[in-house]
Amino acid sequence: MNDLLPEVVAHWQRTEAIARDVLHAYGYREIRLPVVERTELFARSIGQHTDIVEKEMYTFEDRNGERLTLRPEGTAGCVRAGIESGLLHNQIQRWWYAGPMFRHERPQKGRYRQFHQIGVETFGVPGPDIDVELILLSARLWQALGLGGLRLEVNTLGTPAARAAYRTNLVDYLRSRVGELDEDSRRRLDTNPLRVLDSKNREMQDVIRAAPSLLDYLDEASRAHFDGLQELLNRAGLSYVVNPRLVRGLDYYTRTVFEWLTDRLGAQSAVCAGGRYDGLVELLGGKPTPAIGFAVGLERLVELLVQTAARATDNAPQVYVVPQAQAPAAALVLAEALRDRGLRVECHCGGGSLKSQLKRADNSGARYAVLLEDADRVAVKDLRANEGQRTMALADAAEYLAKQLAKQLANPAYR
Ligand code: HAM
Repeated sequence: MNDLLPEVVAHWQRTEAIARDVLHAYGYREIRLPVVERTELFARSIGQHTDIVEKEMYTFEDRNGERLTLRPEGTAGCVRAGIESGLLHNQIQRWWYAGPMFRHERPQKGRYRQFHQIGVETFGVPGPDIDVELILLSARLWQALGLGGLRLEVNTLGTPAARAAYRTNLVDYLRSRVGELDEDSRRRLDTNPLRVLDSKNREMQDVIRAAPSLLDYLDEASRAHFDGLQELLNRAGLSYVVNPRLVRGLDYYTRTVFEWLTDRLGAQSAVCAGGRYDGLVELLGGKPTPAIGFAVGLERLVELLVQTAARATDNAPQVYVVPQAQAPAAALVLAEALRDRGLRVECHCGGGSLKSQLKRADNSGARYAVLLEDADRVAVKDLRANEGQRTMALADAAEYLAKQLAKQLANPAYR
């Protein structure tokens, strides 16, 4: 679980602000949900035999003896809230959420025990048009963030019935090569054999490559859905790869699944992942409701942005007020007047020599220092230009600075 220090938070804020704009451009509305839910909610929706439920949840009993879990993901909570509020039945909903998730995984680069997602869930649309809308939305997000080089993989998991038929054949096949399976995969043979296909173990890649493909077991309607998805992706001009081994680690998926991947984060290559879960609302007690969503891992996204040296939002002050030897009240009043003009201002507090005050001004990241010369006059110093300072009436300083900063904002060379 990481501390996010102010320098990094600037990147987070930029990412979150851009994501919010993109989500709103598609008509998605934010939903805010608790970080704690009943354990049973996750066990039922994510699946009893998944890694998340078997090994990774932070679960505890509260004072009433109720078993609760820190949410490992956001989909289950959205569905629960949607059913409880009566907002899912016969309606179309487009929701997004952001916040911390908790999984007791082995930490490594890009994998943490508290991490953050921005997630999107839609309810009530059965066709592949909404699948493609979600993928277009995610593609637009990468573009808006200035992030290139992500690749899109798609697959279909069909219906539970098709998957059950496939599962039987897959298990037969894997048993015939059981000597080549690693311990984890042997354990999964009985519980979650599809996840064997997801193994990153190099020594098992031959076994995996030769395994039967789920695509050969698809029911008619799932095949039509998948064909429709690909046709729409092609029409939208999106590049993608069909990866029949893409199975995802949560049990609620049906039909479309997809991931956006990068080669720049080591083993943790998925930046964004999701899919359709047409059976989940009913499983949790609602009326049958088609649904699809995805979640972006913010730590991974921000790490990529830092690597590509994307500029973070500049929250630094624009002006630093240097009282010199004047009374602190004069500096505070001037700083307020500058803020009235919409400027971001840090006012020097705590006294000290002029030299130390100017040093702080430099370190603040502000473009200008305003030095109080006497009761009515100030000197304005451009901290990034090698020119002398300009003296003016105190009453003129706010207007002068607002104009200078506006001019610089309009000039790309200054940005
Ligand atoms: P997920 O694949 O478990 O799906 O997680 C989605 C994304 O969250 C991953 O692709 C990754 O970027 C990030 N992530 C997951 N675990 C960690 C971790 N330990 N540390 C850092 N980042 C992590 C879900 O959670 C589904 N609820 C997505 C979804 C929404 N499907 C339908 N709707």
